[in-house]
Amino acid sequence: MKNIVILISGRGSNMQALLEAELPCRIAAVISNKADAGGLDIARQHCIPTAVVSHRDHPDRASFDTALAQVIDDFHADFVILAGFMRILTADFVNRYKGRLINIHPSLLPAYGGLDTHERALKDGVKIHGCTVHFVTPDLDHGPIIIQAAVPVLYHDTPQTLAQRVLHEEHRIYPQAIRWLCADQIELMEDGRVLLRRHKQIGYALISPSLE
Ligand code: GAR
Repeated sequence: MKNIVILISGRGSNMQALLEAELPCRIAAVISNKADAGGLDIARQHCIPTAVVSHRDHPDRASFDTALAQVIDDFHADFVILAGFMRILTADFVNRYKGRLINIHPSLLPAYGGLDTHERALKDGVKIHGCTVHFVTPDLDHGPIIIQAAVPVLYHDTPQTLAQRVLHEEHRIYPQAIRWLCADQIELMEDGRVLLRRHKQIGYALISPSLE
């Protein structure tokens, strides 16, 4: 059975969705860069070992990433899952876990990498927004895409209502992506695309606003 380690910085709702999904893997630990991350309490309630590696205890990104990798490796992680982990990682760290480091991002990448994705989507007037699970590469928010969910943007949406609609889908697609990973169904191709083995491809168009 594969070992996964989840990294968080905050409330940990995606982590919670992973803990409650009964995944075919062992969740070896939840690690936070913030001691007061709400998600740590949720992990403890699920009897998952937790650790804190505070970025404030390190003078630069490189030394923080080295300390973080040490703790991750102590838990023998096959996959490292970023679930609202809000630190930019060095290329050395990313390369160390090449093909084993996964992130969820609240936009339909490659649109809206970075912060404030919902505000920016609303400002642009897009009619469809969403979330993406992808492999992490040194290029911020640009790694090979595993799965995406699209949601309609509604006329009266605020960043909060849109975030809520997207988050609901995050909680559905992240466990699915990790399930595929642990079942060895995901192949990372040389050209940077992701191939899903043993999966019948079907899908439906999301048209927003809807047709009459
Ligand atoms: C989620 O919306 C996640 O997609 C986002 O932070 C939130 C964490 O919420 N991640 C990023 O923006 C990473 N670039 P959570 O702590 O409740 O899972």
